[in-house]
Amino acid sequence: MRIVTVVGARPQFIKAAVVSHELRKSHKEIIVHTGQHFDYNMSEQFFKELEIPNPDYNLGISGGTHAQMTGRMMIAVEEVLLKERPDWLLIYGDTNSTLAAALAAVKLHIPICHVEAGIRTHCLTNPEEVNRVCTDHVSSLLLASTKSSYEEMINEGLQYKGMLVGDPMYDAFLEYSQKLNISDITLTMLNGDTVRMPEEYYYMTCHREENTNDDKNLLEIFKSTELLDSPTIYPVHPRNKKRAVRLKEEYKFTKVILVEPVGYLESSCMVKNAKKIITDSGGLQREAFFAGKKCVTILNFVCWPETMVSNRNELSKPIGDEIVEKLGHLQHVDELYLPFGDGHSAKKIVDTIENAEKEGKNK
Ligand code: UD1
Ligand code: UDP
Repeated sequence: MRIVTVVGARPQFIKAAVVSHELRKSHKEIIVHTGQHFDYNMSEQFFKELEIPNPDYNLGISGGTHAQMTGRMMIAVEEVLLKERPDWLLIYGDTNSTLAAALAAVKLHIPICHVEAGIRTHCLTNPEEVNRVCTDHVSSLLLASTKSSYEEMINEGLQYKGMLVGDPMYDAFLEYSQKLNISDITLTMLNGDTVRMPEEYYYMTCHREENTNDDKNLLEIFKSTELLDSPTIYPVHPRNKKRAVRLKEEYKFTKVILVEPVGYLESSCMVKNAKKIITDSGGLQREAFFAGKKCVTILNFVCWPETMVSNRNELSKPIGDEIVEKLGHLQHVDELYLPFGDGHSAKKIVDTIENAEKEGKNK
């Protein structure tokens, strides 16, 4: 089969890495990078560290409003699809790159395989929810990472094209999180200075529109870090670098350490060695769970219900005291509870596409 994979954002590179390695054993893959994430440490570093083949196309499209970005991507992806005429389009998650590729492909009658399908927050003000709902409805094959996302497909009558395959993020975590030792990691501060990892630290990421579009939420999140008993390492997403630096200086926060984004080998190792995790990232919530680390998620909706058991991952409003209080709740980790598959979801993804092709589900 000839498969065009479209990726554009950091979490997609991680999932695509494990699937691409499996896919290329017996199929031709053409990688299209939309350009949505473009800084070295948001993009190329992932291709290098995870040994993802260089993209065949880089569309160089980023920024602008949602409609501008998505529209420009649709036009450019369509051109590639017309030229390459693949048997399948393979897409991941819920970014604007995902939606743009799906809309371009469905109008060309190219079957779409959507990995990480079925996630629902039931909150249409969350831009990713719009992307995933639309993508699922135009795709031919919906691959669910968890039972709850498969059940969401049933709720929408989509299960006829759905399959539970496990989470490629779990495959990636098992494969890559042990490549580095924490003592190998040097962090780059936002002023360019380098710093060693502290012995004990909390690991935080925060990049959602909901938490970074004005000062209020990020300020409260920073307040929580002042109340903790160890420093908090925060690799700052480029979207809120300016705001984060300004707030830290203005309010003289001393315990949050702002650093440049790190690569995946570093990030997954940092999760494993952290005291606890504070995040609004879908990926980091799951990695905290994989590593058995207590997590507080600063969002008003649940993305990954499987992680929300036995106090392992709790939602918090962006209120300093609430974040700290929830971080203090004791969790219980049941080592036998493995809701994200068996670490071989990449193989299941490729097998499922092969079967769908054989059964003529590519219509
Ligand atoms: C996007 C996804 C989000 C995902 C996140 C992963 C959408 C709607 N959102 O959010 O679902 O969780 O990626 O990290 O698709 N920027 C840079 N350099 C970069 C990347 C981004 O400067 O390498 C800037 C962009 O120019 C833009 C801003 O950061 O101004 C936001 O980037 P964008 O891709 O729109 O959204 P993300 O917040 O990254
Ligand atoms: N991550 C990383 N470097 C960082 C911050 C995060 O490699 O500086 C990884 C993290 O370990 C997780 C993924 O990026 O695997 C999550 O991506 P992100 O938070 O950007 O997007 P989301 O998962 O929220 O869509």
